Amino acid sequence: MSLRIRPATRADLDGLGRMGAAMVSFHHQLAPNRFMAPPPQVESGYAQWLGRELASNEVVLLVAELDQKVVGYAYGREEGTDWELLRERCGVFIDLWVDPTARGHGAGEKLTREMISAFRKMGLPRVVLMAASNNPTAQRLFARIGWQPTMVEMTLELEGE
Ligand SMILES: CC(C)(COP(=O)(O)OP(=O)(O)OC[C@H]1O[C@@H](n2cnc3c(N)ncnc32)[C@H](O)[C@@H]1OP(=O)(O)O)[C@@H](O)C(=O)NCCC(=O)NCCS
Repeated sequence: MSLRIRPATRADLDGLGRMGAAMVSFHHQLAPNRFMAPPPQVESGYAQWLGRELASNEVVLLVAELDQKVVGYAYGREEGTDWELLRERCGVFIDLWVDPTARGHGAGEKLTREMISAFRKMGLPRVVLMAASNNPTAQRLFARIGWQPTMVEMTLELEGE
């Protein structure tokens, strides 16, 4: 199987919209209260959003092709100093998705390594990401590459107490 990572182009936007929507559904299934349900037109909304992001030189948007077919994407952006998060300028790794039928062939890891290398070229000192606490597959991948846990998000449900 041939695996290739390349920058996304506008021609990828429909596929990115579909995968972005799948990413929203995946998280909603992991924790339905914490992660929103996919709103109507989530695919076109996601495609529009990523289309705008593509124009920014602070954004890294990559796709993975397995045997010439787009099966995954990675999306990250440079963020400046953030006083709310007490975080200096860094790369933020926002989305990583590989279609279920294409998993286990190294696309997730290769997308991640290319994202790191793009952030390194942008002169960023570190890459920060969030992973759902009940998503061990993703956490394993990130830990294998070298990420260390630095923050724990906690949620208290108020309705229905
Ligand atoms: C997390 C995710 C991106 C991983 O994608 P992937 O393409 O399957 O990732 P990889 O193939 O690089 O690694 C997955 C596993 O396959 C194994 N693998 C990779 N290449 C392999 C190969 N050629 N042969 C056998 N196994 C292989 C890896 O060792 C890894 O094993 P592990 O899970 O036991 O650690 C994917 O599961 C996904 O999209 N999940 C839903 C969205 C998500 O969780 N995103 C992250 C949000 S923070």
